[in-house]
Amino acid sequence: LPLAFAAAVIGYLLGSIPFGLILTQAAGLGDVRSIGSGNIGATNVLRTGNKKLAAATLLLDALKASAAAWIVGYFLGEEAGIIAGFFAFIGHLFPVWIGFKGGKGVATYIGTLLGVAPIMVLLFGAVWLAVAFTTRYSSLSALVAMLLIPVALWILGAEKIAAVMAVMSVISYYKHKANISRLMSGTESKIGAKG
Ligand code: G3P
Repeated sequence: LPLAFAAAVIGYLLGSIPFGLILTQAAGLGDVRSIGSGNIGATNVLRTGNKKLAAATLLLDALKASAAAWIVGYFLGEEAGIIAGFFAFIGHLFPVWIGFKGGKGVATYIGTLLGVAPIMVLLFGAVWLAVAFTTRYSSLSALVAMLLIPVALWILGAEKIAAVMAVMSVISYYKHKANISRLMSGTESKIGAKG
């Protein structure tokens, strides 16, 4: 148990670094929480108009979770690595530093997946791109991918990782509730729009 606790703390601390907020502030773009959806993630950083910064946010928010899973997994074992990846995701969604108002966890979900079941990132990417090209909704693309990933892991026999990713999907769906109601009312902003 002390090992699991250490894994959770390290994961949480890494995951709770709000790269979208840090990068936009460092670039002098102001507070990303006051534009678009108000979210701190890459999709909303893109609404500042700075594509490179959005890409950097996606990469860093993802890699902080992969790093947590890799580093903790290396030193404390595979299961501890999965715990660290999970808590990195939790740290991103509920960071203590900014009043527990974190992101929606899409980049961090991909990062955890890269840490614990790397091949599945290809499936996530393929599904995300397919939905994004057809609908231009970032949120919907992520929601569909996060639905399919646990199912695919389950079918492939990785039950434990499927269960962890399913819990993460449910939590991220909850964080997307405003997006889901906008999608249903047809008012969700599309990729490339500034809203
Ligand atoms: O990646 C997060 C995305 O699913 C929704 O972001 O800013 O459109 O709420 P946003």
